[in-house]
Amino acid sequence: MIATCSTSLCGRPTTRGKAAKKDGRVSVRASASCDPSAQRSAAKFAPREIAQVSAKKAAVVETPKPVVPTPVVAGAAVAAAAAAVVAIKSKKSAPKKQRRIVIAGAPASGKGTQCELIVKKFGLTHISAGDLLRAAVAEGTPAGLKAKEYMDRGDLVPNEVVVTMVKDRLAQPDCTKGWLLDGYPRSEEQAEALIESGIQPDLFLLLDVPDEILIDRVVGRRLDPVDGTIYHMTFFPPPNAEVAARLTQRSDDTEEKAANRLAVHHRNVDAVVGKYEKIMKTVDGNRAKTDVFADIERIIKAM
Ligand code: AP5
Repeated sequence: MIATCSTSLCGRPTTRGKAAKKDGRVSVRASASCDPSAQRSAAKFAPREIAQVSAKKAAVVETPKPVVPTPVVAGAAVAAAAAAVVAIKSKKSAPKKQRRIVIAGAPASGKGTQCELIVKKFGLTHISAGDLLRAAVAEGTPAGLKAKEYMDRGDLVPNEVVVTMVKDRLAQPDCTKGWLLDGYPRSEEQAEALIESGIQPDLFLLLDVPDEILIDRVVGRRLDPVDGTIYHMTFFPPPNAEVAARLTQRSDDTEEKAANRLAVHHRNVDAVVGKYEKIMKTVDGNRAKTDVFADIERIIKAM
């Protein structure tokens, strides 16, 4: 399900998906019946073939006969195939890894864009601090009303609002399958609050994009309120006029506010990174989004 808000601070969606699974049975069957090494072994050890080799030496010429695996060798191949099937079945029934990932980076470094791809591939629950705050603003909750003035300036929303919001969300049942936390923690205090709550990610992904690229990305960003897709008027333009006509722009996506958001990021990022150095992987985010994702996919698969 994709949630979008209806205000001018309209955020990106929380997407979900499942990775495709491969069926290995075909290759197992093939290895049981077609394995040339099994056939070679059969030819080597079958008594009839040994007799043929001796006769060949003595009688000079003999037409080659088709190799027929002996029951013993065929039985071994069948047993090996059965063992492979059992291994595949137990791999299939093994519980999915519960990956807990934080994705960080400057404003417009591509966190939301990569989260869409990660969720589609790995089926994690995506939690975006910015989206949670925008939803609270749209609902007009007390927390939302307080958050709005900070978000409008591009400043960090106070911890008393955002920390509980994120911790409560992480406690929801859908997070037991693994989560992808986007845009949190953004300060040393937020990182400490997570650690004190016993919430420890397994991976901290940091998207690295030069500042001069980011402002262009911010001002060109548009969001589709129907399916939540993140577009860019130059880099990822909408596919047709109908989609283009319904796109919205976040009210904090101006050059001036983006400059403040960037400054806030630079003031805080070192302290946050310092808390997660041991599990941190930096990814060059200044490439095509598919290339960025290829690196991220490799990193996550290696977890
Ligand atoms: P939030 O919504 O989290 O904004 P942000 O961190 O500034 O990040 P963005 O959403 O702007 O960018 P992104 O990295 O997701 O990039 P995207 O993929 O969209 O936070 C908003 C506000 O909420 C904050 O300012 C603050 O007030 C408050 N807040 C949030 N978290 C808080 C916290 N923890 N504590 C306190 N306050 C908090 O991409 C951007 C554009 O670039 C798009 O147009 C996209 O199409 C394009 N793009 C993406 N990848 C590429 C690529 N590889 N090449 C070219 N273009 C690309």
